[in-house]
Amino acid sequence: MTGYVEIFEVGPRDGLQNEKREIPVSEKIELVDCLSNAGFKRIECASFVSPKWVPQMAGSGEVLMGIKRANGVRYAALTPNMRGYEDALAAKADEIAVFASASEGFSRANINASIEESLDRFAPILEAARHIDLPVRGYVSCVTDCPFDGPTAPSQVAAVADRLFAMGCYEISLGDTLGKATPDSIARMLLKVRDVIPVGRLAGHFHDTSGRALANIDAALSLGVRVFDAAVGGLGGCPYAPGAAGNVATEAVAAHLERLGYDTGLDMDVINQAAQMARSMRGEQEAHV
Ligand code: HMG
Ligand code: MG
Repeated sequence: MTGYVEIFEVGPRDGLQNEKREIPVSEKIELVDCLSNAGFKRIECASFVSPKWVPQMAGSGEVLMGIKRANGVRYAALTPNMRGYEDALAAKADEIAVFASASEGFSRANINASIEESLDRFAPILEAARHIDLPVRGYVSCVTDCPFDGPTAPSQVAAVADRLFAMGCYEISLGDTLGKATPDSIARMLLKVRDVIPVGRLAGHFHDTSGRALANIDAALSLGVRVFDAAVGGLGGCPYAPGAAGNVATEAVAAHLERLGYDTGLDMDVINQAAQMARSMRGEQEAHV
């Protein structure tokens, strides 16, 4: 074994937020309950955003309140503003995440704010969370490419990641939202971000639009990243990133890491069962364009 690599399961959030079919809360709960037995330490299963913007996440409170919580698993939720934060607390999220973009175009399209305005919105969330010791993760989207602004400068990713880290995010997840990254562009970006944030506090969040997510994971592994976000069944996309397809599939990442000799602590039988469940939840038509 060459050490432990954590897969952070994001399927019930990043995966399901982009599905066309209206998925009943009971099905979401069933998926999370299955994933709870797989050996994950963290599962993102809720998003307290505007239901006008992302209707698929409307039942997030019921999901969090309806799941069987497994010992040692933290159930996470996205919170774009204080309203989302309050709702996440009411639903007993174990950790929350704020989400910023490295590019202005995506920031506007996704959360209707400039990067600076979004950081201003996150400041009171981080402040409130600090008082109750609630862990806050920070996402940076479009770390190599933006659907609106084109290629992203690595220095811009480092600047936004640095701000989130300084505000108190315990980990920064670096999102190739579009799935356009290459091992080279991931490496160039990571080398800049590693200058400002310890690599042990970074995670890779790679969408698999171009089929390069595993190669990008390899590039990140070689630079010391040991946490990767993935979605069972390769569910997902982002409703505000035209062209973004599914997250890299958890089962593919787990098998790949195992082949490389890493320990993920995951039960592949349970993962495969959850992946099958996730695939069967998909709408007939994909929502991504
Ligand atoms: P806005 O329209 O600028 O804000 O949206 P607003 O304050 O005018 O609110 C609009 C309406 O939403 C109002 O309702 C608010 O009350 C309501 P109305 O008065 O019209 O009836 N509202 C809320 N409702 C529920 N929960 C809330 C909330 N806040 C306001 N928390 C806002 C701004 C941020 C709310 C909106 O843009 C939004 O919800 N955006 C979320 C978009 C999103 O969820 N995108 C996907 C997640 S990010 C992602 O997938 C990328 C990631 O995976 C990493 C990667 O891949 O790169 C993380
Ligand atoms: Mg994503």
